[in-house]
Amino acid sequence: MATADERTGIPYQRDGMNAARAEFYRGPNMVIPPKHLMASTSDHIPKLSDMNQHQEEVSSEEDNSPINTPMPNPPTVTSDDFALAFDIDGVLIKGGQPIPEAVDAMKYINGENPYGVKVPYIFLTNGGGKTEKERCLDLSRQLDLDVDPGQFICGHTPMRDMAERYHTVLVVGGEGEKCRIVAEGYGFKDVITPGDIIKTRHDTTPFRTLTDEEYESSRLLDLDKIRIEAVFVFADSRDWAGDQQIILDCLMTEDGWLNTRSKTFNQGPPVFFSHTDVVWSTSHEHSRLGMGALRASLEAVYQALTGKKLNTMAFGKPQIGTYQFATRLLQEWRKESCGIDRSPSTVYFIGDTPESDIRGTNEFNEITDNDWFSILVKTGVYQDGATPRYKPRMTCNTVFDAVKFAIEREHRKNSKGELGSD
Ligand code: G3P
Ligand code: MG
Repeated sequence: MATADERTGIPYQRDGMNAARAEFYRGPNMVIPPKHLMASTSDHIPKLSDMNQHQEEVSSEEDNSPINTPMPNPPTVTSDDFALAFDIDGVLIKGGQPIPEAVDAMKYINGENPYGVKVPYIFLTNGGGKTEKERCLDLSRQLDLDVDPGQFICGHTPMRDMAERYHTVLVVGGEGEKCRIVAEGYGFKDVITPGDIIKTRHDTTPFRTLTDEEYESSRLLDLDKIRIEAVFVFADSRDWAGDQQIILDCLMTEDGWLNTRSKTFNQGPPVFFSHTDVVWSTSHEHSRLGMGALRASLEAVYQALTGKKLNTMAFGKPQIGTYQFATRLLQEWRKESCGIDRSPSTVYFIGDTPESDIRGTNEFNEITDNDWFSILVKTGVYQDGATPRYKPRMTCNTVFDAVKFAIEREHRKNSKGELGSD
């Protein structure tokens, strides 16, 4: 079912910082390959069949050989041979606002380019905390385009498959009741939040008092009768101290029974995180702590308290299962929205975090039939001058440069193929 994998959660490294930090964040990840894909609903668009007649590998990503002059007003056609996958934070959005080049980039790939090509695309973010539908509405507003849940994966999307396995779960993170709603939407039958535990026993977290709204929405529990079968961190915690206390309490139980205490500290439920990003890109000029930092903290505190090693598990990028999920989503999306019933030869993944976006894309590329091509942009956690721990096949300043590079590279491949066939 699961694969263990060494990882670091370091978003970028200044030379010399790597070793110690990589060691600190080392630990296993796990992904349960998901089965479900969401439905999609767009109109069908004609294919660009002449862009996939010939394939020729570009040996160097710095290949600047001349390309055919684009037509002045070409008819718009949809590429059936390549596709794009976008990370969101640090690539398209920062602090809730679109990165300036993002809106133009989306127009470009939707036909406003000199080649008259539309390129199918999906979004693959480690973020979450809301339903996929709500996230898509946010993104549609931010980028001024229609984003369909059928082209969207967030960090917790693959957790939906765990609903068949676990009945009573502790769901942590996000605003108010949002993650409970997401979990129930995934089919989890009995979803308990930290708020429920605090409402039932206020001295659980001595420095946290529920707001009136939180108190109202939280549920009173019979703690003697609750057995937490698994803990899921769906989104970033809004209260690390309280949430860590409650997760640790669960982990130190006998088999998840809340009013018990293990003597051996190896009987607690499993803990799943929706991703491992230690930091992420916001409107602040420096990257901010993310869920991976909470994970590292939890593992360290557990070991300090119990003397036992805590093995947590994670979904999201860079997990291979997430990219397998993305492959199926992309296939389904291309079929539903464009009528394309075949795999793309190349998927360009545009991200800002070497340890999740670039690592995941490169490692997936080694085991998949399609060419997953990693592009790093400089608008997020990556900083100019840093040496990325995982090397992208192309680095661009912005997402707009990245989509132009991808379309021109495909056009160049196509032109060379046509010349070669003469
Ligand atoms: O919390 C979200 C963040 O860690 C990363 O999001 O879109 O860059 O994968 P994204
Ligand atoms: Mg990002």
